[in-house]
Amino acid sequence: MDSSHIQFCLDRAKVDLHQLHNLLTISAFWARERKIEDLAIAIANSDPVVTVWDKERLIGFARATSDCVYRAAIWDVAIAPEYRGVGLGRKLVETVLSHPRVNKVERVYLTTTHQQSFYERIGFKCNDTTTMVLDNTHPLDSGFLLEEQAQEIFST
Ligand SMILES: CC(C)(COP(=O)(O)OP(=O)(O)OC[C@H]1O[C@@H](n2cnc3c(N)ncnc32)[C@H](O)[C@@H]1OP(=O)(O)O)[C@@H](O)C(=O)NCCC(=O)NCCS
Repeated sequence: MDSSHIQFCLDRAKVDLHQLHNLLTISAFWARERKIEDLAIAIANSDPVVTVWDKERLIGFARATSDCVYRAAIWDVAIAPEYRGVGLGRKLVETVLSHPRVNKVERVYLTTTHQQSFYERIGFKCNDTTTMVLDNTHPLDSGFLLEEQAQEIFST
């Protein structure tokens, strides 16, 4: 596949939430149950957010959270099935890694269940020993503020 016309975009306001929801439902087993309004909150609180476009079609997505100096984490990396295998996933992750909020950070984390080989080719190493996780089953109720932030981005 010739992918020279594929565009990468860093503008969070351009994210089409319905197309993103479809892409994640098809491509990302961990994100199938996500609601569109929650995706808007996640995007409002992530930077960079990278989308990949074939004309008007959203075909790739990744986002990161970062303190800009010590730690960053990459989340929700996905390329639509028909567009895989031609280097777009690598370029997507490299776009996140080269962003000014990520490129000087001491350590960049991500979690992956099946794609270790893909990330190893980009320079990541497996790190089973240091990572812990809390499944936050009783989150504090701060939804109102978060929704306001999301509206600021998506109402423009
Ligand atoms: C993982 C994913 C983003 C890769 O996207 P892609 O566009 O197919 O990847 P690329 O074509 O850029 O491949 C980059 C390199 O990784 C290799 N690669 C890609 N997928 C691989 C896999 N599953 N296993 C091993 N190597 C893989 C490619 O051969 C290529 O190697 P090279 O640079 O030495 O030629 C894509 O398969 C995807 O969206 N999968 C479903 C969602 C997912 O699992 N996301 C990651 C979860 S954290």
